[in-house]
Amino acid sequence: MAEENKYKNQINIQDLPSHIAVIMDGNGRWAKERGEDRIQGHSEGVKSVKAITEAAAEIGLDYLTLYAFSTENWNRPTEEVDALMGLMVNAIDNETDDLVKNNIRFLTIGNISMLKPDVRKKVESALDATKHCTGLTLVVALSYSSHWEITNAIQHIAADVKNGSLEIEDIDSCLVAKYLSTQDIPYPELLIRTSGEKRISNFLLWQLAYSELYFTDVHWPNFRKDDFFQAIIEFQKRERRFGKTSEQIAKEKGNAC
Ligand code: FPP
Repeated sequence: MAEENKYKNQINIQDLPSHIAVIMDGNGRWAKERGEDRIQGHSEGVKSVKAITEAAAEIGLDYLTLYAFSTENWNRPTEEVDALMGLMVNAIDNETDDLVKNNIRFLTIGNISMLKPDVRKKVESALDATKHCTGLTLVVALSYSSHWEITNAIQHIAADVKNGSLEIEDIDSCLVAKYLSTQDIPYPELLIRTSGEKRISNFLLWQLAYSELYFTDVHWPNFRKDDFFQAIIEFQKRERRFGKTSEQIAKEKGNAC
């Protein structure tokens, strides 16, 4: 426990990002290194989900988004997809009361119509149980990909132009943002990806335009509170310029819309 507080005190709480997004990667490699089944890696990964959610709530973060299951993950072997869904259902079952107790609002982004009815029901009941919570918002990207999200947004924009409720001239980047699944969520200031790969993997492509990227070799099941705090400390050392000069940025703090 003392170990877990090693980096927390070094965070400038007055200068927290409001939204951190995480690509949780390396569950399979974590398991392989131990000669265990991939599912064991995912199971241990759920413990990191809990630890990082707790860490985010402890420091007073507003939004934490976790990439739990991509549209492409549906192509994994059926046993792995079923195991992942089972782990998520169990986690939701076990943690919903704690989320409420800790004032954590649960949200999802993604095509949840793809989920099996029992999984979808659990997700919807957790959304409902936590909808009044005003502390951390935990966003789980579930059956999500940016290509799905942006295609979906384009379809809705085109439909609104066609039915006359939207003029083509009114389409700008702020309007596009309103058609994304993150419509009420600020863009992430920091993206963390674990396990050494340096790519974005179809995750929040629009929203990450000006985000700081942080890559660590630590596999997700080993990524715990202090690793999260270290990423925030590194973020706080960076200067974000949004295409402007340092002098301009000193005078203002940019937000897209
Ligand atoms: C990436 O590791 C991880 C995933 C595809 C799934 C992550 C999901 C969880 C940890 C469960 C989430 C649960 C809740 C409640 C949000 P990988 O399998 O791609 O690892 P590899 O690249 O080493 O093979």
